[in-house]
Amino acid sequence: MEAFITMSRSLSVFFVILGILSHGTEAVLTPSKHNCSNTTFTPNSTYHINLDSVLSSLRSKSNATRENGFYNSSAGNTSGAKVYGSFLCRGDLSPQECQECVDTVTEIITQICPGKKEAIIWYDQCMIRYSNKSFFSIMEYEPFLHEANGENNKEPNGFMDVLNKTMNNMVSKVVRRYRKSSVAKYATTDAKFQGNPIYRFAQCTPDISADDCRKCLYKAILSLGNHCWGKIGCRILMPNCFVRYEKYPFYTSSPKDKWRQIVAIVTSTVISALVSLSIYLFFKMSKKVKKDAINEKTACSELSTMDYSSNFSLSIIEAATNNFSDGNKLGEGGFGAVYRGKLEGGKEIAVKRLSRTSGQGHQEFMNEVTLIAKLQHRNLVRLLGYCLEQNEKLLVYEYMPNKSLDVFLFDTSTSVQLNYKRRLTIINGVARGLLYLHEDSRFKIIHRDLKASNILLDYEMNPKISDFGMAMIFFGNESKELTDRIVGTYGYLAPEYATEGLFSVKSDVYSFGVLLLEIISGKRNDRFYFSEKGESLPTFAWKMWSKGQGMELIDSLLAKSNVAAPEVLKYIHIGLLCVQDDPAQRPTMSSVVVMLGSEIATFPQPTKPVFVAGSASSSHPKFCSDNAVTLSNISPR
Ligand SMILES: *[C@@H]1O[C@H](CO)[C@@H](O)[C@H](O)[C@H]1NC(C)=O
Ligand SMILES: *[C@@H]1O[C@H](CO)[C@@H](O)[C@H](O)[C@H]1NC(C)=O
Ligand SMILES: *[C@@H]1O[C@H](CO)[C@@H](O)[C@H](O)[C@H]1NC(C)=O
Ligand SMILES: *[C@@H]1O[C@H](CO)[C@@H](O)[C@H](O)[C@H]1NC(C)=O
Ligand SMILES: *[C@@H]1O[C@H](CO)[C@@H](O)[C@H](O)[C@H]1NC(C)=O
Ligand SMILES: *[C@@H]1O[C@H](CO)[C@@H](O)[C@H](O)[C@H]1NC(C)=O
Ligand SMILES: *[C@@H]1O[C@H](CO)[C@@H](O)[C@H](O)[C@H]1NC(C)=O
Ligand SMILES: *[C@@H]1O[C@H](CO)[C@@H](O)[C@H](O)[C@H]1NC(C)=O
Repeated sequence: MEAFITMSRSLSVFFVILGILSHGTEAVLTPSKHNCSNTTFTPNSTYHINLDSVLSSLRSKSNATRENGFYNSSAGNTSGAKVYGSFLCRGDLSPQECQECVDTVTEIITQICPGKKEAIIWYDQCMIRYSNKSFFSIMEYEPFLHEANGENNKEPNGFMDVLNKTMNNMVSKVVRRYRKSSVAKYATTDAKFQGNPIYRFAQCTPDISADDCRKCLYKAILSLGNHCWGKIGCRILMPNCFVRYEKYPFYTSSPKDKWRQIVAIVTSTVISALVSLSIYLFFKMSKKVKKDAINEKTACSELSTMDYSSNFSLSIIEAATNNFSDGNKLGEGGFGAVYRGKLEGGKEIAVKRLSRTSGQGHQEFMNEVTLIAKLQHRNLVRLLGYCLEQNEKLLVYEYMPNKSLDVFLFDTSTSVQLNYKRRLTIINGVARGLLYLHEDSRFKIIHRDLKASNILLDYEMNPKISDFGMAMIFFGNESKELTDRIVGTYGYLAPEYATEGLFSVKSDVYSFGVLLLEIISGKRNDRFYFSEKGESLPTFAWKMWSKGQGMELIDSLLAKSNVAAPEVLKYIHIGLLCVQDDPAQRPTMSSVVVMLGSEIATFPQPTKPVFVAGSASSSHPKFCSDNAVTLSNISPR
């Protein structure tokens, strides 16, 4: 009983403190920036009436849309006077705070932008937008608004560096939230500069795609350099996303931080209360953890394509592939053959039949199966199912009608089909797929065998990364690994991996760089190496590029008229950065994606890459002379 009283006392302390903390953030509605069009409507016109009705519908929904803080609405018909409107509340706000902001701003927007056909208004807490154009689900960069805190930091360079450091991380966090529709698409992070905290916040509207959100946020982050240089606080506001940082906590801290603060306060005041409070917290948290674990499991089985596997019995696959007939064979590799198949309903599949002698053990097989089944990205090939029956190890994939990239790229009769635009699409798609593997999926995954023949092409020649038999998963923060079993393919192996067996995400970045140069030049790195030039594609590319003759690298089959020289040089530049000798000098895939999407090249200068194959042979003599083979053939998978 006594414990109960202490407990309820400490609980009331706890709620009082919770109340104080949750009002510790900005409670006052604070206007930020707005932009009104200079086109106007006439008072009492249909447009005016429709606008009023849109604004009142936003007001009425500000209560209902508590999950993701976003709502869109329209009124009227397309014969002239249709009005579209939406609101976005800052993701950390309570429904009441959101409602307060939306209600207030929809009331005054017609005073701030009187008679204007279009307007966008940003408050610290919410954004209201209306227009005569439909903007739902369309990503737009304009109107671009920014607002800086007038004060400058004394050491802008160091400050901006710190600010920038984990921005990519924050973007990935926001993007990940697109997996669940009912949550606000935002993330926060704090950092420290010279002992002072920096609080950062990023959010997107949920009506755009995760990819567009990423693009939008990267643009915002890149703009910090122009509009916020050295400022102690600043924000970049675009219709579909915004980024803000301050030296004070302007957002409601995450529950975890809140617990920490509560515990600190309670410790200094009522020690006895702390004891029971901890019991309470422990009780509450263990309950929460349990709940999360259950959610995780459900999410997993929803995501998992393993449910299909039961449909792929050996007899079904045999029927689909006409008993693995030669006529259905698509190709053959060190691991076994790939067959094309057609299921009863007409759906086409590709079946990888691991040869019984391939040496790919049960473990590698299950590695690939469990790994790829969890991955879903449009630049990764989908595994539909698998089959382990009667000594057969079969993997069933979505069918890729255009086979693999090497088939097109390195054959003069087909490479013309890979026009300039398609090649850039392929490079960008592979970069995004790899970024997903490295940073956006639930694990950190290193592919370890990225090469042209592992890039499959769909009907529209969109690239999909395949073959995860050698991929490695990392949990938590470990990110480098030492291995004495080097797998991968000559010409694509990063020097530190080939010589020391050290691999990390940066070894994939190296392979990506080689692949990029191959796509631009239409030349195979491995063949190239064995040519009399005594050079690898990276060293040759560097030589040409640094002499200002980068354009000579480009595939002679590409119609020169359609090729934009500055763009090609930018791609080569990025490729060369990826094949730098020192892994630390190579960009991460998120930087690569940013660079591919940026206009001007203010990238670091690459230095001359090393001649990888030569150094590989010195410390691993048994690998040295085999021409263009996947090393996994030597060291059996
Ligand atoms: C809108 O404003 C711009 C610049 O402020 C001006 O050049 C343009 O003529 C204006 N358009 C209308 C329709 O008033
Ligand atoms: C618009 O309507 C309001 C009330 O309905 C009226 O008071 C006002 O005079 C009207 N304005 C015009 C320009 O007709
Ligand atoms: C908003 O929701 C609260 C609680 O659910 C309710 O009391 C209130 O009346 C609602 N307001 C509006 C405008 O619907
Ligand atoms: C909101 O926008 C979506 C398209 O993104 C549209 O389908 C939906 O009807 C809109 N909602 C309203 C209430 O207009
Ligand atoms: C469009 O809206 C106008 C004004 O509200 C109305 O008179 C007209 O009948 C509507 N047209 C259609 C096709 O609904
Ligand atoms: C929106 O209004 C502007 C200015 O009156 C006009 O030029 C434009 O065509 C309108 N857009 C739509 C989709 O009606
Ligand atoms: C509002 O946005 C438009 C389009 O982005 C831009 O041209 C205009 O200059 C902006 N106006 C103000 C006052 O910022
Ligand atoms: C942040 O980093 C990017 C490249 O990673 C760079 O282009 C940008 O200028 C940096 N921004 C700031 C504000 O330092």
